[in-house]
Amino acid sequence: MNKYSASHFGSAFPVTPHELSPTRTVPSHIVPPPYASTGYVGNPPMVLTLHDEDTISRMRASCRLARQILDLACLHAKPGVTTDEIDEIVHEAIIAAGAYPSPLNYSGFPKSLCSSINEVICHGIPDSRPLQDGDIVSFDVSCFLDGVHGDNCGTVTVGDVDEAGVRLVKAAEEGLMAGINAVEPEGCLTSIGAAIHDVADSYGYSSVRKYCGHGVGELFHTPPFVKHFRNSDKCMLMPGMIFTIEPMFVEGNQASITWDDNWTAATVDGGRAAQFEHTILVTDDGFEILTISD
Ligand code: MF3
Ligand code: CO
Repeated sequence: MNKYSASHFGSAFPVTPHELSPTRTVPSHIVPPPYASTGYVGNPPMVLTLHDEDTISRMRASCRLARQILDLACLHAKPGVTTDEIDEIVHEAIIAAGAYPSPLNYSGFPKSLCSSINEVICHGIPDSRPLQDGDIVSFDVSCFLDGVHGDNCGTVTVGDVDEAGVRLVKAAEEGLMAGINAVEPEGCLTSIGAAIHDVADSYGYSSVRKYCGHGVGELFHTPPFVKHFRNSDKCMLMPGMIFTIEPMFVEGNQASITWDDNWTAATVDGGRAAQFEHTILVTDDGFEILTISD
């Protein structure tokens, strides 16, 4: 508990950094994204991409794989299992499918999965901390298959979680679905943030401002950057655009700090966070959720 903690939310004990296992390797037959060897990502291009049919069909496959692996990660979220063990499962399964785990060495990220527990908002690094009964944990799974990235995230409860935690997880998923339902060709990017903000308000949660959804395709993070709160980013949505929507809802204040590992983002006040993410294609008559399993 720190001086910002309020008694009516948060978990009993703050999440602390644990040990990292040695860096996992990727066999040479897997085609890696350009940053894999150096960690260097570079600035995103300033253009909006409308993807062609070939890229869209490759995105369908990559996103479907990302979904299957996310489901696998969630299945293993049990008390006593470490997030490093889940990282290993995810790493091996992505490679077995012929893909590269996108987070690995992305700007130096050390693991193949992001795992974010309780008051950790996003970009948590899998380590030797065993999941505990009552934790909520989000897994962000992304993979690079056939030249394109698929990206999705979900939050699950571990063992018995209190009602407040279950409600937070439900609200975050509802926020994502409201954002997705605001997507339409010739619609506006601002509608997505507004729809998500409405859901957060209706539950009394805050939607995190620092981290946004993003265009995704051959590059992991490109425009459009998708805010999960009311905003004035007037940008017309057009068929062929592909981007993620990935709201993070928190119990208290949305302000965040980054741990000394330079990645882990946590709430300042100890309130818990939940996140859901899909990769979305804008179509001629609405949208297609690419990160679904059939
Ligand atoms: N998958 C995350 C997203 O939703 C990005 C993770 S970057 C990493 O955009 F380096 F932390 F993996
Ligand atoms: Co994303």
